[in-house]
Amino acid sequence: MTGTPEAADFDRVWEAADGIPGWLKPGQARILWDEAVSLPAGATVLEIGSHQGRSTVVLGEALRPTGGTVIAVDPFVEGRLFGGTPTRDKFEANIAANDLGGVVELVADYSTALRPTWTRGFDMLYIDGKHDYWTLSDDLHWSVHLPEGGAIVIHDCYSSIGVTLGILRHVLFSDRIVYERRSDSQALFRIGRPTRRDRLRILAEVPWWLRNVAIKVLLRLRLRPIARLVGHDSPYDPY
Ligand SMILES: C[S@@+](CC[C@H](N)C(=O)[O-])C[C@H]1O[C@@H](n2cnc3c(N)ncnc32)[C@H](O)[C@@H]1O
Repeated sequence: MTGTPEAADFDRVWEAADGIPGWLKPGQARILWDEAVSLPAGATVLEIGSHQGRSTVVLGEALRPTGGTVIAVDPFVEGRLFGGTPTRDKFEANIAANDLGGVVELVADYSTALRPTWTRGFDMLYIDGKHDYWTLSDDLHWSVHLPEGGAIVIHDCYSSIGVTLGILRHVLFSDRIVYERRSDSQALFRIGRPTRRDRLRILAEVPWWLRNVAIKVLLRLRLRPIARLVGHDSPYDPY
């Protein structure tokens, strides 16, 4: 692929990314793609939480034609869910298999450990790391490096309790972050001055969030047939 990426290229990129295990859905990848391909040449995206590289490949493919960079921040935490060192090996193999070694820079550390001394600017921020309130609150501070109009994309927004409480506490009343839209739990925000209508758009997501929390409770109580009644026909949490 050379020159400016076409929208049709997304389908080819998604086919490659979809072979990498992870949680990103096509509509959610599309938000990352659309924002990244519209960045100026040589732009940088900072990604918090890369896992095996599903989202990293989408971002890397979007930036490759114009000489951009993805800074991938992930400490590869140990444990059953995220897999530790073997996950790092898979991430590196997936980046190499997609020939993105010249586009993706891995920083294998916690976002919260890096942030206080970070000085390098970037043009877009993707937050998909640890989903508790405190980490999300800290991760939002990375946005001070973004220019006016810079995109902040947040996964598990209005589905995770910690992420959503962080949004309600730090974004609902912020005078520098505007909420635009979401694809399931992938939400797009932008640096700018919000209007009252922008803030109301965040509040309008609260019923969807409460529905998702209720579904999570039902799944833990093994009441999947009831979750099905509110449109959730899956053993997995909604995201
Ligand atoms: C949901 S996964 C990311 C999924 C990835 N974006 C994808 O599309 O497949 C969350 C990742 O965040 C990482 N993580 C946990 N705490 C973190 C932190 N404080 N900073 C950066 N990454 C973190 C985990 O190691 C894990 O790989």
